[in-house]
Amino acid sequence: MTIMTALSAKFKKIYGRDDGELFFAPGRVNLIGEHTDYNGGHVLPCALQLGTYALAAPRDDRMVHLHSLNYDDRGVIQADLPSLYRLREYDWAIYPLGVMDALKKEGVDLPGADIVFFGDLPPEAGLSSSASIEVLTAVIMNELFRLDYSPADLARVSRQAENNFVGLASGPMDQMSVALGRKDHALLLDCATLDFRCVPLRLAGCSLVIGNTNKRRALTGSKYNERRAECDAALAVLQTRRDVDLLCDLSPEDLRNFAPVLTNPIQLKRARHAITENQRVLDAVRALENGETEVFGRLMSESHASLRDDYEVTGTELDTFVDLALGCPGVLGSRMTGAGFGGCTVSLVKDEFVERFKAEVGEGYTKAIGYAPSFYPAVPSRGAGRLAE
Ligand code: GLA
Repeated sequence: MTIMTALSAKFKKIYGRDDGELFFAPGRVNLIGEHTDYNGGHVLPCALQLGTYALAAPRDDRMVHLHSLNYDDRGVIQADLPSLYRLREYDWAIYPLGVMDALKKEGVDLPGADIVFFGDLPPEAGLSSSASIEVLTAVIMNELFRLDYSPADLARVSRQAENNFVGLASGPMDQMSVALGRKDHALLLDCATLDFRCVPLRLAGCSLVIGNTNKRRALTGSKYNERRAECDAALAVLQTRRDVDLLCDLSPEDLRNFAPVLTNPIQLKRARHAITENQRVLDAVRALENGETEVFGRLMSESHASLRDDYEVTGTELDTFVDLALGCPGVLGSRMTGAGFGGCTVSLVKDEFVERFKAEVGEGYTKAIGYAPSFYPAVPSRGAGRLAE
């Protein structure tokens, strides 16, 4: 059964109608620039071919009915738009409902909708399944009710949902990459200004391979918010010496000059990661544009080392995977992707070595950790929108 057939059958069965329209939003893999977005730095993600699909039709009674084929046993979740606030029974639906809440807070009067979702992204794996369903919901509202929002506006309201309704103080990267992704390109985003440009991903005989450690991210929300607070504390100290708004406004050289001021060793490490990682993104884009694939790979591996040693968001599973990957022939670079603490890696592998890489890392990882990783190709794809049926 195709995704469309499964969605239509369910839509007809639970809502008794067959006028649903089909929409899709991708997940994303971040190639480099981790934990820089909320520090006003650069990121280089790309949208994936994996993502979230939905069939949706309008209602006119201010009610939303939501169902997910991924959580079939949870039934249809209903919410009354005029009196929307976060309830425990909303369960997985806090993501789409958060977007409707954000739109409402901007003064948009939503008439209501029937929606069935299906996602083929692994959940809690660092590939932005939450941004995917958020931006998808924003796109559906935009199209069904002709709101005339730009892709960047759709990303903005989706991020508000994540920050205010879901409660994760995330930066702009995920929602922007899901909304603005382009086939065969990565997105270079300046998170201080939200200026962006698409960079062609020419990898000369190499592929990007996503490796899922299959370690569910634990405590991501609290640890994530803790890292943000540590960066804010480091910035506050630096601001006593220099007029600077964001950590990533500083260069690695500035940091060397100001390092003695940061007497708290944790704050120094967090700041060093953010500032050097921002520089690595700019160097990586230059390498990509000059066709220096080896340099690009090396920067990916340096990014992982910094996330492991200075930012401390990797853990045994991610480190084991990356160490094994870097020991394989034909691997130019490897790193964790997303928030960390488990979830996925991304590796740059010469095409003729991809199968061997999967076999060797798969075996070594299973031996060391006790369960197998999963692999997915990273195919840079288009951003969210309506799909032709
Ligand atoms: C999560 C957040 C992003 C970003 C990454 C780390 O995916 O949602 O905003 O901070 O972690 O780079």
